[in-house]
Amino acid sequence: MSDETSLSAAQSDLLLDDAARDKASGIDPLAFLPPLAATCHPFLLMVFHSLVGPPGSDPSLENIVMAAIVLAIVLALPIIGFVIARRPALQPATRRLAFAAVVSPTLYVFLGVIQGMIGSPLSDPLVWCILWIGATALAFATPRAEPLRAVTPRIARWRVVHGITATVLCAYILFHLANHLTGLIGPSTHAAVMEMGRVVYRAPVVEPVLVLLFLLQTASGLWLAWRCSSRAQDFYCTFQIASGLYLSVFVLGHMNSVFVYARAYLGIPTDWNFAIGAPTGLIHDPWNIRLLPHYALGAFLVLGHLASGLRVVLIAHGTEPKAVNRLWATGVIASGMIAAAIIAGMCGVRI
Ligand code: HEM
Repeated sequence: MSDETSLSAAQSDLLLDDAARDKASGIDPLAFLPPLAATCHPFLLMVFHSLVGPPGSDPSLENIVMAAIVLAIVLALPIIGFVIARRPALQPATRRLAFAAVVSPTLYVFLGVIQGMIGSPLSDPLVWCILWIGATALAFATPRAEPLRAVTPRIARWRVVHGITATVLCAYILFHLANHLTGLIGPSTHAAVMEMGRVVYRAPVVEPVLVLLFLLQTASGLWLAWRCSSRAQDFYCTFQIASGLYLSVFVLGHMNSVFVYARAYLGIPTDWNFAIGAPTGLIHDPWNIRLLPHYALGAFLVLGHLASGLRVVLIAHGTEPKAVNRLWATGVIASGMIAAAIIAGMCGVRI
């Protein structure tokens, strides 16, 4: 499709989008749901902890089942943000608020680490609630702040940059996730594979380039997500924006945890024990439990986001959309299974 064709198609979509928004007078009450869901996140984690108890506890079968249901709700809550972000009547600010709610599992980890580093006297849930109330008030108070903009050739160039850096970073991401999958065999296999990988990715010439590329990926991703989130998108594009936004925050928080918090601030090795929150582990520790949805969705969405990128490239090269969408769905299901396997290994399951 030429730039001109895509531009005029995008512009007619924008007119429809404008009409939908103009028709919607006042506030869409459903736009409150995503921030409400996000606000519940720490409290659901607390409920989970009260059901499984501290390390050494032996929860009843009833409590285990209830805890599994609570965890499933925690993992599913971002879907509310995803669904609401697709509503055409939303203003850009409330749509972005909905997307931010999708990111809450990783934002909450980021917040917890920053709070720990600055020695905040306020509890994480309290700061979390204050931030969400503030963000919600701001989003609803923001008038239509920007004119709707079409997909310009400049944005198209950013997409190309984003795609090229993603291709390079794929090698690291696939190795990194494969490394975490070996946790299913055992911590010593995980450590041995990581030791081999570190020879390459921690080499003095490679590591700074890797970090810079991740920062560039995050910056270009955030810019694309900002532009694309000003209006409603189709299902696939919304998934691409939501997963990309999650990853941008995940990567920033994760690199802060690895490089700043663990290696520089605490001076501890960033190994298997660091990843699983040893000695208490992920499940029974009231702080560490937040790492479970953060990592699970991080692993799932990075692979799902790559599948979305591949989908766009294949469609642009003329592959039949139905076949491409089937491939995408297979990729997303496989991503979910790989993420579940990684988390199972981190929680002590062995094969
Ligand atoms: C289950 C999910 C994940 C876990 C448990 C995890 C854990 C870790 C650990 C333990 C390290 C330190 C590695 C070392 O010291 O050699 C690390 C580094 C890193 N991770 Fe992850 N990670 C996960 C997912 C991801 C994803 C999805 C990305 C990118 C999208 C990512 C990007 C990075 C980067 C850039 C580094 C720094 C590499 C370096 O040391 O130079 N991680 N991660």
